Amino acid sequence: MDVEKRIRELRLLLQEHAHRYYTLDDPLISDGEYDLLFQELLDLEEEHPDLVTPDSPSQRPGAPPVDKFEQVVHHTPMLSLENAFSTGDLRAFEERLLRFLNQDFTSDSLSYMAEPKVDGLAVELVYEQGRFVQGSTRGDGSKGEDITAQLKTISAITHTLLDSSAQRLEVRGEVFMDREALIQLNRERLLTGEPLFANPRNAAAGSLRQLDPAVTAKRSLKFLAYGIADPGQTPCTSQSELLAWLGSLGLPVSELARFCPSITEVISRFEQLAELRQTLAYEIDGMVVKINDFNLQQRLGNKARAPRWAIACKFPAIQTTTRLISVDFQVGRTGAVTPVAILEPAEVGGVTVSRATLHNRDEFERKDLRIGDTVLIQRAGDVIPEVVKAIVEKRNGSEQPIVMPTACPVCGHALLKAPGEAVTRCINPHCPAQRLRALIHFSSRAGLDIEGLGKKSMAQLFNLKLVRDIPDIFTLEHGQLAGLEGWGEKSADKVLAAIQAAKKPPLGKFLGALGIRFVGEVTASLLEQAFLSLDQLMNSSIDVLLELEGIGEQAARSIVDYFSDPSVREMFARLQQAGVVPEAGRPSGGDLPLSGRVILFTGTLNTLSRTEAKKLVKDNGGQIATTVTQKLTHLVAGEKAGSKLKKARELGKIILTEHEFLEIIQNFQR
Ligand code: IVH
Repeated sequence: MDVEKRIRELRLLLQEHAHRYYTLDDPLISDGEYDLLFQELLDLEEEHPDLVTPDSPSQRPGAPPVDKFEQVVHHTPMLSLENAFSTGDLRAFEERLLRFLNQDFTSDSLSYMAEPKVDGLAVELVYEQGRFVQGSTRGDGSKGEDITAQLKTISAITHTLLDSSAQRLEVRGEVFMDREALIQLNRERLLTGEPLFANPRNAAAGSLRQLDPAVTAKRSLKFLAYGIADPGQTPCTSQSELLAWLGSLGLPVSELARFCPSITEVISRFEQLAELRQTLAYEIDGMVVKINDFNLQQRLGNKARAPRWAIACKFPAIQTTTRLISVDFQVGRTGAVTPVAILEPAEVGGVTVSRATLHNRDEFERKDLRIGDTVLIQRAGDVIPEVVKAIVEKRNGSEQPIVMPTACPVCGHALLKAPGEAVTRCINPHCPAQRLRALIHFSSRAGLDIEGLGKKSMAQLFNLKLVRDIPDIFTLEHGQLAGLEGWGEKSADKVLAAIQAAKKPPLGKFLGALGIRFVGEVTASLLEQAFLSLDQLMNSSIDVLLELEGIGEQAARSIVDYFSDPSVREMFARLQQAGVVPEAGRPSGGDLPLSGRVILFTGTLNTLSRTEAKKLVKDNGGQIATTVTQKLTHLVAGEKAGSKLKKARELGKIILTEHEFLEIIQNFQR
């Protein structure tokens, strides 16, 4: 093999993949594959040190910043970490440390901190006299992007430290997204046709590197602090002290970090974390091992790209290869036709996978998947199996393209792909597949959670034409159920009791169960808070809906269209007849300081950020308005308030200062 050529090739490949990963947030290969390429380069360069060049990816931690953000120079470079992939690598790490430190040290004199390696984006937060003044990404290690405004929207990042005595602190940590939030975000992106985020890191990065911080604010990001640029800025002498100290300043630190007096304990902690991993709400991709003592850290120092005193031990990737046998096309409750890969059964992280979603046509075309391909599959977020890519090298020419059907595989109606949408839909409202899916959703846990009416029994009742639509559920009788295949007297009684109990559902739950397009759980609960009854919602206009914070144009239109459909109106009449009456919440209930108040902020606030102010309103039972309308009850005017203040005055609204607003909340007698 021509080593020089391979090194050049690897550098180009790594550069391209790093660009896609760090700058575009849209990787083509998995982290595991990237690590393998990187390792190959490191190994070759170690064997041939004369071929190492300063611009090799092995010498730089990340990617240069994109130019849309202001640049920030890190006072102390933000380094990356070397990787270990096995417990053997961890022992080798300690041996390297001991060799470097010479005879003065033995294995007994080294102790470590073992911390979860959260899969997110590294950031630096600068605090001056306790105030958060600047936040940035790692960028290329020496210069990053200024994302102060974006970071300010993350509630875990405190704007003021509990102790302001330090002149300047450069806190390092990870911004990340929960599995649940990522799944939710991808669900929304699937609807709007935006490309899906491949992993939590890309989702966190994509959400932070938004020029408009309002977009970041909507993305429910979290933060954990794990380090400091310069330990000299702190009173601490070790990493374990540092984590405790950061916690005492009001910064979140991981509860899973452990002090380990020996490498053997580091290894057993690694095994524990690998087990714990499945149970966490967020993704961790390994464990970071750090020499605990700061003096020792300093003595060990850094290499070009990474410190000598720390290493990231990666968990084995939950990925494997198998064969794509065929593709099924499933019709969902909104008519969306989803391609599903039928796979030769393969084990991924202890689970046998034989099906994986291909999301939509754009996704399988972008990945250029073909029937007969050997494919790399993974369980994303450890739950939903998905196809990462085809292993093109394994093709033999017999592979066939995947063809998106032009007619609905269930009802035969023509399919439609609206311009700008990623989803292909069956637009026949009477399509049996859609109707059945809608019924299954209605009684499922995401809907009214009617026990005993799961997927299978609903399909059975649907096929027997005992339940054709939602009202039919509520008029089922004992005689119709008992005696059906798989049913007895008892199971019939049980299901009928569960149906009876579902007749007075909370309005939000009921709205979510209906499966109105663009009305998920969150929107449904917003509607519940805003409306006194189903009738009031049914008769509201698009303008009223648009005034509600969190309801966008698409959802508002979809709601109005839904309720103005005569067949929907008829369905509600039948439901009412059957005794189904959703119960509204208490939007104007008086047990919270701002219940029934509709509040708008304008001008510059002194002590609160806009996000904090809005959160306070919501937490205290109020609603946020975005414009001055009749519905508004209070306007909170900060400095330089302009036209909104004028209009609110004209309409005779109550005008508050920021201080008065805070007083209302504080003085409220609970
Ligand atoms: S220490 C010089 N600690 O892993 C020390 N990093 O591959 C550098 N990470 O860039 C980082 N959890 O984004 C450290 N507890 C932890 C971490 C952690 C996650 C990330 C971080 C870093 C990358 C290194």
